[in-house]
Amino acid sequence: MNSLQNLALVCASVAWCFAEDYVLDDKPGLGRTFDGVGGLSGGGATSRLLVNYDEPYRGRILDYLFKPSFGASLHILKVEIGGDAQSTDGTEPSHMHYENDENYFRGYEWWLMKEAKRRNPNITLIGLPWAFPGWVGRGKNWPYNFPDVTASYVVSWVIGAKQHHDLDINYIGIWNERSFDSTYIKLLRYTLDKNGLENVKIIASDNLWEPITLYVLRDGELSDAVDVLGAHYPGTTTVMDALQTEKKLWSSEDYSTFNNEVGGGCWARILNQNYVNGRMTATISWNLVASYYEMLPFGRDGLMTAEEPWSGNYVVESPIWITAHTTQFTQPGWVYLQTVGHLMQGGSYVALTDQKGNLTIVIETMTHDHSECIRPPLPPYKVVPQNVTFYLKGSFAKISKMEVWRSKFDFTTKKSFFFQKQDPLKLFDGSFTLNLDVDEVYTLSTITTAQKGSYPDPPPSAPFPKTYKDDFNVGNPYFSEAPDFADQTGVFEYFINLTDPGPHVFTLRQVVVERPVTWEADADQTISVLGDYSWQNLTVTSDVYIETVKTGGVFIGARVDQGGGSVRSAKGIFFWVFADGTYKVTGDLQKTNVLAEGPSGTRAHVWHTLCLTIKGDYASGTLNGSPLWNTTVTAVPNNGWVAIGTSSFELAQFDNFSVEAQ
Ligand SMILES: *[C@@H]1O[C@H](CO)[C@@H](O)[C@H](O)[C@H]1NC(C)=O
Ligand SMILES: *[C@@H]1O[C@H](CO)[C@@H](O)[C@H](O)[C@H]1NC(C)=O
Ligand SMILES: *[C@@H]1O[C@H](CO)[C@@H](O)[C@H](O)[C@H]1NC(C)=O
Ligand SMILES: *[C@@H]1O[C@H](CO)[C@@H](O)[C@H](O)[C@H]1NC(C)=O
Ligand SMILES: *[C@@H]1O[C@H](CO)[C@@H](O)[C@H](O)[C@H]1NC(C)=O
Ligand SMILES: *[C@@H]1O[C@H](CO)[C@@H](O)[C@H](O)[C@H]1NC(C)=O
Ligand SMILES: *[C@@H]1O[C@H](CO)[C@@H](O)[C@H](O)[C@H]1NC(C)=O
Repeated sequence: MNSLQNLALVCASVAWCFAEDYVLDDKPGLGRTFDGVGGLSGGGATSRLLVNYDEPYRGRILDYLFKPSFGASLHILKVEIGGDAQSTDGTEPSHMHYENDENYFRGYEWWLMKEAKRRNPNITLIGLPWAFPGWVGRGKNWPYNFPDVTASYVVSWVIGAKQHHDLDINYIGIWNERSFDSTYIKLLRYTLDKNGLENVKIIASDNLWEPITLYVLRDGELSDAVDVLGAHYPGTTTVMDALQTEKKLWSSEDYSTFNNEVGGGCWARILNQNYVNGRMTATISWNLVASYYEMLPFGRDGLMTAEEPWSGNYVVESPIWITAHTTQFTQPGWVYLQTVGHLMQGGSYVALTDQKGNLTIVIETMTHDHSECIRPPLPPYKVVPQNVTFYLKGSFAKISKMEVWRSKFDFTTKKSFFFQKQDPLKLFDGSFTLNLDVDEVYTLSTITTAQKGSYPDPPPSAPFPKTYKDDFNVGNPYFSEAPDFADQTGVFEYFINLTDPGPHVFTLRQVVVERPVTWEADADQTISVLGDYSWQNLTVTSDVYIETVKTGGVFIGARVDQGGGSVRSAKGIFFWVFADGTYKVTGDLQKTNVLAEGPSGTRAHVWHTLCLTIKGDYASGTLNGSPLWNTTVTAVPNNGWVAIGTSSFELAQFDNFSVEAQ
């Protein structure tokens, strides 16, 4: 470490050093105001497993994300406003499943916002819907037919955040990566104002720069309603129209890259270049923390990984420390200098000031192949080692000392290190030279509060337990969802029956009764998955309670091979019983591949016990302890999650769920 430190800053004086020159000066005026670096929880269900971690691990993960001067020390937390529909890695519950229903304690986003706020009282909070409960669309898969209904629905979420959790939501979005509607945006502004929420600002449209910027340019009233133009995966660039609006420009969703070191490199490059190339003043990572089953879409595309609540294992990946290079040395409200840009031999630098004399410089030299993000394609460019000399001018000329923090991605000898504090830089004549290698990130700053936080190693990684039981008998649950169940269509919630229900007082209940205004292709059935994707041979058991007379039905399943946006085409082995007195065994969720069927005597409003056993290509099922069917299964997946669900969007309950895997 010491030899690296010495190598890093070889030229104490520029006179005898060949280097390219860069001037950092506030005299010509400043650039745009910085709004922060953030993480996105949701869009969808990306923090699902986080809430099930035991302490102290859960708190430590949150510290790595949010605690100031510790880890990523994020400035912004953006969350999904749950819409009861699939939004990438699962569904998130709405605060209004039904029009006459309001509940601000569902899901985990409220909890997460409070935990973030507890660590950083200044954190900026943003809410954005991906989907809406079906009643909002009044039967249409579209949220703008009744814009007043949609606006009240979204504003009720903002009001609920304050009333029930004392959370001030700072920004609200329109409809993630879908169409916007000018009338709706204006009505949303009006509805916020009418409710005394003038301080809640609007981001539009969480999609591409166009066409929203054109609309904003042409429509003064729309322009007044919109505070921030938010684009997704902008590839660090913007468009002239967006600059002309003079609105704040944000990369309101970015990254989405596997969080290995190339992912860290992607994040380092875009955090700088979103401003250098695109004048974007905030960048938000999808996602905040990879806390969902890794075999769901976009596994591990988060700033860190926390996908094993059963073991307590989590991994602080490189993007956490890359974030720290910016976040620990700036705050929203700081201002970029105009003198930012590309380095002559590749890479980029930004500089920000608090306008009270503090200066932070972040430099990255990420090479093309070590910093590609998932999207958009990255045109070729070259980066080579280079010596750079910075001249501090204007009010920075008198700075005599700066802290130096360095990360080095080393893809050849695997000796990468991240966020290491180097010897401080002493300045004599307002200039200094850095000997930059490729794939490096440097922060130089007058801020002295940065720290590389650490905790003892978490427990080792371990597979999902082979024996798993849940009777859902929690008294007053803090979270509405049962541990480890990852809803892929529909919402499964703890339910308490207070009217003398016999032994099944506490159950898990599917509660979505109408197809939501979807964001992705939710299945026509509801389904929640759990367990180890590699499971082949096992027994899964559950008590089930159909609530819909005649047409209702429920299933337990295994070897379920798909969730997320492709949940409709999930295959597996599904054991269904129906209220009409029949059963089916199918090789797919859509029930097209029927492996067995017949009478079962099952009906609604009676508890039944289903048991499904699979070994190799042989499967069998029992009903209330008696054999009902057995069959050889062909053309079904070899492995996958276990699952529960319903035949349509209908109420149904589950109890005494258990798995015994081999
Ligand atoms: C919050 O912001 C205020 C004013 O900007 C600042 O004084 C304070 O230190 C900040 N708190 C944290 C925890 O960052
Ligand atoms: C820099 O910021 C610190 C607080 O972080 C403040 O105390 C100091 O006065 C600021 N200005 C300079 C020139 O360091
Ligand atoms: C950087 O400067 C040092 C002398 O301080 C020199 O040895 C080295 O070759 C220079 N590197 C580049 C890439 O110019
Ligand atoms: C609650 O239990 C009662 C008594 O067994 C039963 O009639 C009723 O259907 C149950 N309600 C629900 C929603 O399960
Ligand atoms: C099923 O659940 C009921 C109530 O939760 C309980 O009384 C019963 O013992 C359970 N049965 C099994 C087999 O676990
Ligand atoms: C599942 O059972 C089949 C048949 O007995 C066997 O061939 C296969 O190896 C088992 N799989 C696992 C993962 O144990
Ligand atoms: C499998 O089902 C057949 C009827 O389809 C029955 O005769 C046989 O006993 C069953 N085998 C087992 C092991 O349950």
